[in-house]
Amino acid sequence: MYHKELKSFPTNFLWGASTSAYQIEGAWNEDGKGPSTQDMLVAPENTTDFKIASDHYHHMEEDVKLLAGMGLKAYRFSISWSRILPQGRGEVNEKGLDFYNRLINELIKYKIEPIVTMFHFDLPWALAQEGGWSNRSIIEDFKNYAKVLFENYGDRVKYWLTINEQNNMILYGDLLGTATTNSLQERYQQNHHMLLSQAEAMILCHKMLLNAKIGPAPNIANVYPSSSKPEDMVAAENWTALRNWLYLDASVRGIYNPTIWSYLKDRDALPRVEEGDMETLKAGNPDFIAFNYYKSTTVSAVGPGAPLKRDEIEKAKIITDPGFYQLEDNPNLEKTPFGWFIDPIGFRTTMRELYDRYHLPLIITENGIGLYDEVDEDGNVNDDARILYYQQHIKQIQEALTDGVEVFGYTPWSAIDLVSTREGIRKRYGFIYVNREDFDLLDMKRIPKKSYYWYKELIAQNKIPKSK
Ligand code: BG6
Repeated sequence: MYHKELKSFPTNFLWGASTSAYQIEGAWNEDGKGPSTQDMLVAPENTTDFKIASDHYHHMEEDVKLLAGMGLKAYRFSISWSRILPQGRGEVNEKGLDFYNRLINELIKYKIEPIVTMFHFDLPWALAQEGGWSNRSIIEDFKNYAKVLFENYGDRVKYWLTINEQNNMILYGDLLGTATTNSLQERYQQNHHMLLSQAEAMILCHKMLLNAKIGPAPNIANVYPSSSKPEDMVAAENWTALRNWLYLDASVRGIYNPTIWSYLKDRDALPRVEEGDMETLKAGNPDFIAFNYYKSTTVSAVGPGAPLKRDEIEKAKIITDPGFYQLEDNPNLEKTPFGWFIDPIGFRTTMRELYDRYHLPLIITENGIGLYDEVDEDGNVNDDARILYYQQHIKQIQEALTDGVEVFGYTPWSAIDLVSTREGIRKRYGFIYVNREDFDLLDMKRIPKKSYYWYKELIAQNKIPKSK
């Protein structure tokens, strides 16, 4: 659909940027913090671990000042559960509480709206030792953790996100370092426990904080059939249901997606659902949907028993599923230097589909491009490819707004350079460069990139700057 004129961004649109605790903070064992599962991971070869990351823990004031300099209206960050509760439950670590208190106060000082992710891939190690998400007692632990957060920060934090990319943890946990089992049934049992934990947190949030808003934060992206063959369309619907709707149908409507329920039944992988669970899921209601979007996917039909594609076996072992769908290339799309498809129009269709399906306001909590940024001899970082990526994607938000979709914010990934999930700090996402390499910490200097100034202009004008 071509619009004669595009709607302007609302004046209170939350232009922001995003990070997560374990990828940015460092100070993994300082000031009473307990280890998390991410701290205990063995990093892939030639790649840094997360122990120092961007050392934000020790640069927090400087970092927030830079974010304020960009004119950010919002900053999305996650809280490290084991910094607050080193054992995952029990005694609270005052110094951990204090760090986030200072961060929130600093943001508010600059009129930046804090958007808090309660859990972003870094489970307290102590809880992981007891089975982590496989152990049903984690629901109570998550609820208690949520209570500590609401009690301590609820007076200043209005926007809460429950669990970052629950779907990717279940589907790609091997890649994210969050998987603990190869059993399909156990994975979906963990998923069930996450859904219940999230629902309990949403119920509690609405009880304790009358003005707060809370929502899930899955990774949502549209899926194309690789051809107009009806079988490929079925495969596309299958993969859409498995990667998107399973999570949102449960979070928003409190139901299990029927296609996925029968898929799990067929594979003897149904989660055990106890009495009262479905009522809890129904009682937890989000106020909005936050979602992360990087790339679309394309799939084709593949019969049961068909041989698996080699790269798929290596990249995403457990989700490869003959009889259900098969991932395909998309010759219509370009790729980032790290091989991720670039699909701004897919971003628009994703927003439209989400809004059509759930009728809840949307905020995009991640979107961005990983690049091998470098500082040139004049000390600048000219990340033109990032500017182009943002320009194209933000244009599609405007298209979606004009289509009638309610979008109230955009917090792309990432505010400053941080350690990627598996490819170290050489895969950079930030508006602000952090002067360190995977194994050489250099001076950790912060250098605003070209995209920093571009985004600053966009925020100041509340519209996409004209290309120069
Ligand atoms: C999202 C995660 O999936 O993608 C982030 O929420 C992650 O934690 C981001 O960093 C980019 O992925 P990657 O693997 O390039 O770091």
